[in-house]
Amino acid sequence: MAVLEVLTWPNPRLRDRAVPVERVDDDLRRFLDDMVETMYADGGVGLAAIQVGDRRRVLVMDLAPKGEPRRPVAMINPEIVASEGEIVWCEGCLSVPGVRAEVTRAERIVVEYLDRDGHAVRRECEGLESVCVQHEMDHLEGLLYFDRLGPLERKAVLAEYEAAERSVGSAG
Ligand code: NI
Repeated sequence: MAVLEVLTWPNPRLRDRAVPVERVDDDLRRFLDDMVETMYADGGVGLAAIQVGDRRRVLVMDLAPKGEPRRPVAMINPEIVASEGEIVWCEGCLSVPGVRAEVTRAERIVVEYLDRDGHAVRRECEGLESVCVQHEMDHLEGLLYFDRLGPLERKAVLAEYEAAERSVGSAG
């Protein structure tokens, strides 16, 4: 398994849109393993292929609490088929390191996808899991969480991010 490079904003490839996977095979499973490894290495709870510069429509996540056995989930060609309610969560993103912001999303969703064996799965998600799936699925459409904010909040988050990037740059 390999740890892949995670693209960070403003890399324009984060605006790419994913294309559906046509075949679930060993090559794809190896890539999913690398994505899971990358997510753990970077301390994230979710990762979309677009974030590592790959346009396959896949995401991985693991919401197991720290100290508990890992429970990685891979979703291939995920689609949200139902959603309801509203939840506000303070989100961060491996592609926008160092900043967080409150984002409003659907509280409960039903997502359909293929698992790593190519089996069709229908999963009901709520709370953090629902937030995570929606956040990663946004990446597959070339969207970042700050795109979900109002113009002022968006500007504030990006200004904070750019300031943090500059200080990291000057320190190095
Ligand atoms: Ni993200």
